[in-house]
Amino acid sequence: MEVPKSPSKYKRIAKHKWLIKFGLVILVMLLLFLGFYLESETGKLNASSYYTVVVDCGSTGTRVNVYEWMVGVKGAIKGNLPVLLHSYPDNTTKRSSLWKGSCQYHCMQTEPGLHNFINDSLGVRQALEPFIVWAEQVVPREMRGNTPAFVLATAGLRGLALEDADRVLGDIEAVVKGHSFMMSKSWIRVLSGKEEAYYGWVALNYRMGTFDENYPKSPTLGLVDIGGSSLQIVAEIDVAGDDVHVMKSRLG
Ligand SMILES: *[C@@H]1O[C@H](CO)[C@@H](O)[C@H](O)[C@H]1NC(C)=O
Ligand SMILES: *[C@@H]1O[C@H](CO)[C@@H](O)[C@H](O)[C@H]1NC(C)=O
Repeated sequence: MEVPKSPSKYKRIAKHKWLIKFGLVILVMLLLFLGFYLESETGKLNASSYYTVVVDCGSTGTRVNVYEWMVGVKGAIKGNLPVLLHSYPDNTTKRSSLWKGSCQYHCMQTEPGLHNFINDSLGVRQALEPFIVWAEQVVPREMRGNTPAFVLATAGLRGLALEDADRVLGDIEAVVKGHSFMMSKSWIRVLSGKEEAYYGWVALNYRMGTFDENYPKSPTLGLVDIGGSSLQIVAEIDVAGDDVHVMKSRLG
C-alpha cells in the first residue's frame, strides 16, 4: 500500500512546531528566573549599603561628613567591620559658599566653633543648618529616615561650663530635629578627650588598612592628633594595666 507523503510530512512539521513552542516556553521561564535572581541579588546589595552623617563641632569650626557603608564584605577583620564605600564631600562636591579656597582638609567649614554661640540659637542654626541641608542632598531620599545624624563636639564645647554646653547642645538638637535624618539625644553630645583620641585612632587605622585579615598580628599605627584646642596621643599597647589612660576595645 502506498502511503501518501504529504500528511506524514505535515505531521513531522507539526511535531517540530510543538517542540519549538515547548522550547520557547522553557527559554522564557529561564529568563524570568534569571531576572528574579538578579533583582534579588541587587536588592541584597542595596539593603546592606547604608549612610551615616557625622557633624564635627570642633573648636575652630563646624564640618560635616557623609559616609556610605556596607556590611558583610570580606576583608576588614574577617567581614565583621563595615566597609566604607564612599565618603563625602569628595572631589566631585559642588563648590558652594561653604567651601574654603584651596584646601586639603576640612574644606567645608563654618567658623567660628559652636562654643561661641551660647544662648544664641540663631548663631547655632546658621553654623549648622547648611551642612544638614547639604547632607540631605547627598543621602538618597528613601534612605534619610534610616540614616543617623551624629553631632559630636570636641574641645571647644568641652571647655564650656556644663550648663552652657547643654544649652548649645539643645540648640543643635532643635536644628537636627527639623530635618529628615534619624535623631537621638545620645548622638548629639560632647566627646571626652579619651573618646576623641580613641575614635581618631580607629579612623586612622581603618583608613590605612591596618584592620585587614592580618589583624591583630599586624601592628597598628599610633596617632598624634593636633587639634585646634586639644592634643591626643594614642598607641596600642600589649598589656593593659589599670592606668586611667588605658582603654580596652574590641573591634568588629
Ligand atoms: C577624584 O578622586 C578619585 C579617588 O577618590 C580619583 O580616582 C579621581 O581621579 C579624582 N577626580 C578628580 C577630578 O580629581
Ligand atoms: C544664658 O542664658 C541663661 C538663662 O537665660 C543664663 O542664666 C546664662 O547666664 C546665659 N549664659 C551666657 C553665657 O550668656
